Amino acid sequence: MAAVVAKLLAAFLVALAVSGAGAWEDVKLELDDGMPLIHMLRPLLSTGGHLGRKGRVPCDSWRFAVETNTLRGWKTIPARCEKYVGNYMMGGHYRSDSRAVVNEAIAYAEGLKLSGNGNEVWVFDVDETTLSNLPYYAKHGFGAEPYNWTTFGNYVQEANAPALPETMRLYKRLQALGIKPVILTGRREDKREATAKNLASEGYTGYEKLLLKPQDVKVHSVEFKSGERKKLEDAGYVIVGNIGDQWTDLLGEPEGARTFKLPDPMYYIG
Ligand SMILES: *[C@@H]1O[C@H](CO)[C@@H](O)[C@H](O)[C@H]1NC(C)=O
Ligand SMILES: [Mg+2]
Repeated sequence: MAAVVAKLLAAFLVALAVSGAGAWEDVKLELDDGMPLIHMLRPLLSTGGHLGRKGRVPCDSWRFAVETNTLRGWKTIPARCEKYVGNYMMGGHYRSDSRAVVNEAIAYAEGLKLSGNGNEVWVFDVDETTLSNLPYYAKHGFGAEPYNWTTFGNYVQEANAPALPETMRLYKRLQALGIKPVILTGRREDKREATAKNLASEGYTGYEKLLLKPQDVKVHSVEFKSGERKKLEDAGYVIVGNIGDQWTDLLGEPEGARTFKLPDPMYYIG
């Protein structure tokens, strides 16, 4: 099991490092052809399969409830879903769901009539949005282990998280269109240097602002993030779009003219 996870993680990281869609396709084919799946999703789903006949895959309904913000306040993924979430994240499914979101975001952005004043911004979250913490979560049960401030904090300080290629594609497209990225994260100020360094090394350059949570203020995500968006609007920016992996990135006025929810079945931030 551990060896399989390590192998898949290596393949995933190679794919993220090269970032190109072509290279990712190559890795994906390799996964499909030669490597054992963590969770035997395909055999289960195939028409002749037992579960295929029943029309369901264990944990699929759980993930649906999570992604629709129906299930809230959960601390860890169900233990029975660890393999499912691992396969979802490391196989092609996570990437393909992310691609669907970003394709829609780009189509929307391309259809916007901009003011010409350069005041349009797009808000990006960091964790599981601009950057992927899969290298960390793959070693910690894909969300099956309770959140650990110390180990995750240390990982963040390493500033080695790969970019999510889909988000990078949106980021670059928006910049080409003249929409300025604003990075808004629940990471606290003590992570500013590491976050800025990590973003830069992964190619996220030229953003308008990098906004982090104040160090010692206890504030929930919705309150903090909507408050920062309000400040942006008060300063004359127009938030044309907002993308994040948590509902708390997207809820709370002003949300932004349109919101885009990336997948994240690994953890819940309230
Ligand atoms: C977090 O991880 C550290 C290092 O492995 C460990 O010593 C600590 O007990 C963990 N904390 C919690 C709350 O699990
Ligand atoms: Mg996030």
